[in-house]
Amino acid sequence: MKNIFRASLVVLTVAFALSTCFADAAADYKAKCATCHGPDGKGDTAMGKTMKVKDLGSAEVQKQSDADLTTIIEKGKKPMPGYEGKLTKEQIDGLVKYVRSLKK
Ligand code: HEC
Repeated sequence: MKNIFRASLVVLTVAFALSTCFADAAADYKAKCATCHGPDGKGDTAMGKTMKVKDLGSAEVQKQSDADLTTIIEKGKKPMPGYEGKLTKEQIDGLVKYVRSLKK
């Protein structure tokens, strides 16, 4: 009985840690990225259309490695600004995972 309690506590802690981590990335995305890339990454915004952003969920974007995407977010890709120093490494890692979650 004690073991079951302990095991479920571990499961709950991990689930909570994962969910808050993901929620943070979603909040960062909404605050920093959605103006151009749109809430769903499709770039279907006034800014996104002017700048011709690609659909973040498209194969063209998704075929790039995590390292490629991290570099783009850190250094920017004209006209997108870089976020190095504005977001922590953890936040940028979270955003890469978030971009992956937009894959179709
Ligand atoms: C000012 C508008 C703007 C903002 C804000 C912005 N981006 Fe971008 N982003 C762009 C544009 C424009 C491109 C396309 C650059 C190109 O392909 O030449 C791009 C490209 C990208 C790419 C690479 C896709 C590709 O074209 O291969 C990723 C990944 C990305 N952005 C993620 C993010 C994330 C994550 C954030 C928030 C931290 C963000 N962007 C904020 C405008 C923006």
